[in-house]
Amino acid sequence: MATVHDKVFVPFISKEDIQQRVKELADSINADYEGKNPLLIGILNGSFIFAADLFRHLTVNAEISFIKLASYKGTTSTGNVVTAIGMEEDLHGRHVIIVEDIIDTGKTLSAFLPEIHHRQPASVKIATFLTKPEALKFNVVADYTAFKIENKFVVGYGLDYDGLGRNLPDLYILKEEEPKSETIPAEA
Ligand code: IMP
Ligand code: MG
Repeated sequence: MATVHDKVFVPFISKEDIQQRVKELADSINADYEGKNPLLIGILNGSFIFAADLFRHLTVNAEISFIKLASYKGTTSTGNVVTAIGMEEDLHGRHVIIVEDIIDTGKTLSAFLPEIHHRQPASVKIATFLTKPEALKFNVVADYTAFKIENKFVVGYGLDYDGLGRNLPDLYILKEEEPKSETIPAEA
C-alpha cells in the first residue's frame, strides 16, 4: 500500500512487469524505425520516467526532447488551445514519436496534435505508457501502448496525485472505498 496525500493506493502493476512491457515497446519501435532517425518528444512532467526507460532500450539512432503543454481558453471548436513550451526542434521532415504517460480522455493530445502536424513532420506516432479506453472522449489513437487499464486513478512510474507519487517504481491504483456497512432495520 502507498498513501499519497489523503488517499490510499494499492499495488497494481509491478516494476518488473512494467520494465518487461517497456522493453517490448522499444523492440517494436526498433523494428518499425530501422534505418530512420526518430525524434521522441516527451510530454512533461508525467512522461519523464517512461521516456527515459523506453529511450534506453532503443538501438536505432534516436533523439529525444521534452516539452511542457500549456492550455488556455481559445476560440477553436474544442474551446481550448494547447501550446508547447520549450519546443525548439525543427520537426520538418522528422519522424516524431510523442511520448505520454497516460491518455485519459485524450483531450490534451487531440488539442496538441495539430500544432505538431503544422510543423510538417514526415510522420507522427504516439507512444503512451497507459490508456484508459473507457475514459476516452477524443479521437486519439496511440500507436504504442504499454498497458490498457480500467478507468481508475493511478500513481507511480512518473504519474502523480497532486504532485506526489511520481517516484514510486511500481504502479498503484486508488483503493476502493470500503462499502459502508448498512444498518439493517430489525424486522418488526
Ligand atoms: P487527457 O487530456 O484527459 O487525456 O489527460 C491526460 C493527463 O491527465 C495525463 O497526462 C495526466 O497528467 C492526467 N491523468 C489522467 N489520468 C491520470 C491518472 O490516473 N493518474 C495521474 N494522472 C492522470
Ligand atoms: Mg501528463
